[in-house]
Amino acid sequence: MKKWLMMKIDQQYKTPKGLVGIYFGEKMALQHKIETMWTLKLLDLKENDLALELGCGAGYAIKKAICDSAVQKVVGLDLSKTALISARNRNRSNIKSGRAEFVQGNVVNLPFQDNMFSKVFSIQSIYFWDTLQETVMEIYRVLKEKGSIVITLSDGKDGNSWTGIQAMLSEELIPIMKCIGFLNIEMKQGPSSRGYHTVVVMGDK
Ligand SMILES: C[S@@+](CC[C@H](N)C(=O)[O-])C[C@H]1O[C@@H](n2cnc3c(N)ncnc32)[C@H](O)[C@@H]1O
Repeated sequence: MKKWLMMKIDQQYKTPKGLVGIYFGEKMALQHKIETMWTLKLLDLKENDLALELGCGAGYAIKKAICDSAVQKVVGLDLSKTALISARNRNRSNIKSGRAEFVQGNVVNLPFQDNMFSKVFSIQSIYFWDTLQETVMEIYRVLKEKGSIVITLSDGKDGNSWTGIQAMLSEELIPIMKCIGFLNIEMKQGPSSRGYHTVVVMGDK
């Protein structure tokens, strides 16, 4: 494939834009179903939870979360206006009932009060975050005491490990989480999704 086309596709995965972005948002929602279901299982959302998804894309995980649990409300944050159009469309009735809300913003500067959410999660978005240190500090700030975080991503494909991503987890994300004060930090291997090895990093405030 031509290099310029690859770059355009990568750009759409990073921040979906325009009509093509609507298509990519839907494509990602389909592609990430397995890891989305796994993430929701680990999150174990309950009636009194107020949850935040970072990089919510087209809002598939939020729709599933609300449909499959008694969660009070899930807020989705994304940088992409295009992704948020799809997310709001997909969750029209949940928005109406007050169980879903979508906000445009950057993970590095979360537009929320301190100690607000009981659970924060993210699926296949961490690769695109600009600075991990500031973002993890923001996540810690908006989490309630005893609140938890689940970050899902892929660290390899078809038996091959992505050493760059694994190093990012073991040398950056996990040490940053420890330093900021997260407790019970744990990394778990998940199901294969289209040959991609899924992994989560979890922790509690
Ligand atoms: C690969 S998509 C995954 C979307 C969705 N979680 C899913 O699984 O279908 C990555 C998403 O993260 C969002 N994103 C990337 N960088 C971001 C940032 N700095 N702040 C907020 N959202 C961001 C993108 O706009 C995009 O919707």
